[in-house]
Amino acid sequence: MLEELKNLQTEALKEIAGVNNLDSLENFWRKYLGRNGQLRDFSLKLKDLSAEERASGGKIINEVRQALEQALDQRKNQLQVKGSSISEKEDLDLSLPSTEQKINFGHLHPHTQMKARVADIFQSMGFQVLEGREIENEHYNFDVLNIPANHPARDMWDTFWLDAKATKLGKLLLRTHTSAMQVRVMEKQKPPLRVCVIGKCYRHEATDAKHEHSLYQIEGFVVDQDVSVANLLYTLNTFLNHLFSQKLTVRLRPSYFPFTEPSFELDFACLNCGGKGCPVCGQSGWVEMLGCGMIHPKVLAAAGYSTGKYTGFAFGVGLDRLVMMKHKINDIRWFNSGDLRFLKKF
Ligand code: FA5
Repeated sequence: MLEELKNLQTEALKEIAGVNNLDSLENFWRKYLGRNGQLRDFSLKLKDLSAEERASGGKIINEVRQALEQALDQRKNQLQVKGSSISEKEDLDLSLPSTEQKINFGHLHPHTQMKARVADIFQSMGFQVLEGREIENEHYNFDVLNIPANHPARDMWDTFWLDAKATKLGKLLLRTHTSAMQVRVMEKQKPPLRVCVIGKCYRHEATDAKHEHSLYQIEGFVVDQDVSVANLLYTLNTFLNHLFSQKLTVRLRPSYFPFTEPSFELDFACLNCGGKGCPVCGQSGWVEMLGCGMIHPKVLAAAGYSTGKYTGFAFGVGLDRLVMMKHKINDIRWFNSGDLRFLKKF
């Protein structure tokens, strides 16, 4: 028995030197020192021995127990110190980057980056930058913009109507364009006005490579005396030159909006395919970027402005499409996909 106890002690001390976590220490305790551990087996055997052997056997069992308990405590202390990353010789510097795992930093969504850049440019041109409300009413989204009740833009397929009680300014809806802010601002402020509204709009329409149901627009409008189309074109030119470092090929086409007269649309030669034809430009080589024109006298009148005295221009740009052109993005649906492979490129 003496021999067996010595062997057990040697084996256990060897084992504990190799234990390297607190869980394994617990197992060690159970294996040798616990209620069903190996030392307890020896204690049970004592009863079969003579009184003399029992006394010396009990003494040796106690010595082995003490040796193992001491080794266990020592190892436990060593592991706790190691676990808190402080070794005796090592200084602790919490400002050092972790060597254990790579930290993934997030960054701003490409929409957000573009919103900030656009706001900077317009602020540098003396525009105030606003966001406006996404829940609008018929009055500001349509009526005051000379869009009568039977206009196709009010069609249920174009607009998300809210299932809420109509207000005295008509039914509630998710704004279909940032132009809804024009008269809201004009009612509160007196000319001269230089305003830029950057925010989200919603349209009930089928999506494809360049159409989303939730999109960002940038509205710009200026009201003052003697404002002309030349001022509009100069402003757009300055804005686009600041935003794009490369030379752009654009075309301005006559168009129609109920709230501007005359009206135009501006297209980019598609930067995604270099004008060769792709899903973004619908194989045409051109991408429609914005609508614009001189503010219709009916809109100025709706805001209570004297139409004899003031004129103004307005434009509405698709912010998503600006990002697409700038970074050659082949499908607008990437933006809301939440796909990290896409987002990590920005
Ligand atoms: C308008 O929304 C007018 N309010 C613009 C305007 C403002 C005209 C002021 C005159 C004066 P339009 O529906 O064409 O117009 O949209 C303007 C731009 O928003 C488009 O040229 C396009 O770049 C972008 N856009 C429109 N619909 C979508 C869509 N479903 N997905 C992504 N971008 C879109």
